[in-house]
Amino acid sequence: MTRNRAGPASETGELPKIPPGEPGDLDPEDCFRLARRHFSPGLALAQKVVGRDTVEMSASGAAVRLSDGRVMLDFGSYGVTLVGHRHNEVARAVQQQIDRMPTTTRLLANPTTTALAGRLVGMLQPSSLTRVWLGLNGSDVVEAALKLARAQTGRCRVLAVEGGFHGKTLGALAATWSPQYRVGVEYLLGPVTHLRPDDPAAVRREVAAGDVAALLFEPVQGEGGVSTLPLATLQEWVADAQAAGVFVVADEVQVGLGRCGPMSLTLASGLDPDAVLLGKHLGGGIMPLSAMVCTDEMFAPLLSDPFWHTSTFSGHPLSCAAGLAALDVIESLADRGRHVSERMSSMLATMAERHADCIIDVRGLGLLWGLEFAPALAGRILVEVTQRGLLVSPCLGRPEVLRLLPPMVTSDAQVDDSARILDEACQASRNTGGR
Ligand SMILES: Cc1ncc(COP(=O)(O)O)c(C=O)c1O
Repeated sequence: MTRNRAGPASETGELPKIPPGEPGDLDPEDCFRLARRHFSPGLALAQKVVGRDTVEMSASGAAVRLSDGRVMLDFGSYGVTLVGHRHNEVARAVQQQIDRMPTTTRLLANPTTTALAGRLVGMLQPSSLTRVWLGLNGSDVVEAALKLARAQTGRCRVLAVEGGFHGKTLGALAATWSPQYRVGVEYLLGPVTHLRPDDPAAVRREVAAGDVAALLFEPVQGEGGVSTLPLATLQEWVADAQAAGVFVVADEVQVGLGRCGPMSLTLASGLDPDAVLLGKHLGGGIMPLSAMVCTDEMFAPLLSDPFWHTSTFSGHPLSCAAGLAALDVIESLADRGRHVSERMSSMLATMAERHADCIIDVRGLGLLWGLEFAPALAGRILVEVTQRGLLVSPCLGRPEVLRLLPPMVTSDAQVDDSARILDEACQASRNTGGR
C-alpha cells in the first residue's frame, strides 16, 4: 500500500491561525475550515448541515443556543444530558471541587472519589454488588469488566448479543455487534460469540465448551435501535451462565441510572448480575464519568493487586463531584421524569397513528424512545427535524431508527414543540417523495 501522509486536500487556501490565548470563540466559518482540515471533512460537513452554518455556543436544560441566536431543542446528545445541560446543582458541585482540589495525588485517599463509590453501591442495594471501578467512558468499564472476568475465570470467550453496542475500543469492540466497526481489525479482537435474542437456550449451549468468561448484555439495546431483550430469555441466560461459573455483566451505560426508570433495569427485573456498568449521564451532563459496580468475586484480581488495572484519570475528583450531584438530581427529578415519559409516550403514539405511512414502529420506555422509519427515510427525517430545530440521536447499529432522549427537565411546551417538528418533518418527507 502506498502511503500519502498529507491525506486528501480537503481544505485549500490559508487556514486561520490560532494565536496563544485564543479562548475558543472561533468564527463559525473558521471553525468549519479548521474542523475540515484537522478532524474529518465528512463530520465537519454533517455538523455544518445540522447547524445550518452555525455552531453550538451555550446550553441550558433541553435548549442549545447557536451562534446566530437560534435555539435548538436537544433530545439527543447521545444520552449524556438526562438532567439537562448545565444543571445548576451539578455545576455548583463541580465548581466547589475546583475551588477545593480538582485533581488527585492518587497516593492519598480522596473523599469525593470514595464517597461516590459508597453512594453507587448503596444505590444498587439490595444486591451482591459491593466493589467499584471508575472510568471516564462507557468503553472503559466494558474493558475493565471483560478483563476481570477473563482473569478471574482463566477463560477467554465472551458471549454478547446480536444488535448490542459496547463501545469501539478493541476489547469492547469485539462485543459490539455492528460489523462495519470491526472490519480491518478483526484479528485484534478477542473471541466473542453473539447470541440471538430469541434463543433462550443459547447460553446453555455455548457454555458447554467450558471456555466462556462472561455474558455481556444490554437489557435494552440503545444503539441497537431501542430494542428490549425478552425478560424470560435473560432469566434463562443468567441462570445458565452463573451455573457454569460465567460472570454476568449488565451494560446499563445508556439505559441505567433513571434513563429508563430504575437505577438498574437488570436489578429491578429481579436478575442478580455480577456487574452493572454505568456511564453517560452519570457525570450529570457536565463531566465524563463511568462506573463498574461488581461483586467481590469478580473484583478479586484488583483485591490482590490494586494496580492491576489503572488509568490516570480513573476516579477524577471533578467527575466524582459531578456524579454525586447527578445522582441526587436524578432522584429528585424522578416524578418529573415520569411525567415527561408519559407525555412523550402519548405524543409519539399520536405521531405513529398520524404518519402510519412513514413511521413503522415507536418503542421505548422512560426517557429513551426509538422511531423506526422505512430504511431510506430515517436519514431524510433526521435532516428535516434538525433543520426545524430538533436534535435527536441516530442509532449506530440500526440506521432506520432515530432515538429521542429527552432530559428529565424537558418542559411540556418543549415536548409539544418536538411533536410539531416531527409532524412537519414527516409531512415534508412525504411531499418530497421520501419513501
Ligand atoms: C450500552 C453502551 N455501552 C457502552 C458504550 C460505550 O460508551 P462510550 O462511547 O462512552 O465509550 C455505549 C455508548 O453508546 C453504550 O450505549
